[in-house]
Amino acid sequence: MFLADDEKRMLDGDYGPGVQKAMELLVALGKAFDAERLIPVSRTHVALSGQEGDTYWCTMLADGGAKCKIAPTTNPAWDVNALSKRFEVTEAELELAVRTIDAYRRIGAVLSFCCTPELESNVPVFGEHVAFSESSATPYVNSVLGARSNRESSVSALASAVTGKTPLYGLHLSENRVGQFMVIVEAEMRDPYDWGILGWYIGKFAGNRIPVIRVVNMKQRPAPEDLLYMGAEMNTSGAVPMYHIEDVTPEALMQKHLPAGKAFDVELVVGDRELKDQQEELFEKIGPINLVMLGCPHYTYAQIREVEHLLNGRHVKKGVDFWILTSFYTLELAARSGERARLKDLGVELVADTCIDEPCWKSFEGGLGMTDSPKCAYYRKRRGQPFVVRRLHDCIEAAVEQGGR
Ligand code: F3S
Repeated sequence: MFLADDEKRMLDGDYGPGVQKAMELLVALGKAFDAERLIPVSRTHVALSGQEGDTYWCTMLADGGAKCKIAPTTNPAWDVNALSKRFEVTEAELELAVRTIDAYRRIGAVLSFCCTPELESNVPVFGEHVAFSESSATPYVNSVLGARSNRESSVSALASAVTGKTPLYGLHLSENRVGQFMVIVEAEMRDPYDWGILGWYIGKFAGNRIPVIRVVNMKQRPAPEDLLYMGAEMNTSGAVPMYHIEDVTPEALMQKHLPAGKAFDVELVVGDRELKDQQEELFEKIGPINLVMLGCPHYTYAQIREVEHLLNGRHVKKGVDFWILTSFYTLELAARSGERARLKDLGVELVADTCIDEPCWKSFEGGLGMTDSPKCAYYRKRRGQPFVVRRLHDCIEAAVEQGGR
């Protein structure tokens, strides 16, 4: 693989052992994928998880003197100030979270602690080469914004943040961004929940291939939240880093310029029946719940307003906790605009900086949760809490059923 002079110096350790380690990783990655060279990136996002593996990597680079050239935004761990006072966490869990935050601060990351940077704090433009990790962010960045990122891990994204480079392979190359098969959607798509279930269904089938989606009788154009949910689920049940939707996503236009006589094979047709079966097959039956958890990926301001609208003044019932996870920016906006206080009065709490897959939520384990996100259910189940997945309206009705406190 060709290396420019500055890249060779990084690899030789001229900029210190932290930068050297980062460059070693990128060169190994480039060789594994037959990249001919490295290219500069102008944005990065690191899916820190507050777990030992990637905290170890960040600590090693920071201890080796590395500072981020392209400061990455960061995924959430959990709000240690607020949640450690509310819920049971061990000293070791708290210490790890604090150590993680400290390591990313030392390396010069932007401590945004949000998993939807592409919507507000770190928004690439069409054609920009970036290195984003986070399974919900990468498909959005590629498909909706038309920027170019491989499906990075937190480790490779941080290496790119430190060096400002990424290997030239995969989705950085135009020829690899073309769709590979056609999905016809006949189902009625109403809200992020439908798009999320569709994403889960397609992801299982697609593996890591790029689908081209044709929505028959599209009644309304998908909102950012719809596309965010679909990509998040597709990249959880499968490993789909990019998709095209005809007449919606920017590079779907490219698909119309296939050579004469060449068309995509229709490999999947999805109707209402398929989506219903998918929902039933995957998730728990409804029963008494102890938790409603929304915001995986982090809820937008519009989604928070929708929760208030659907509650319509009704209080969450006794025995059910109701949490919405969101970004620091959206939390502030909801505080200023009044939704945060009004929702709290109804028994709904907003929290920033926090992921659903963290030890701070273990007090709820053993009970049944409810969410509108298959991704949330998938991760929480691994931690010992099954979740019912239903659309937002149904989550709200289950939370307030039989009146208020
Ligand atoms: Fe965000 Fe954690 Fe879900 S990072 S997308 S809340 S698994």
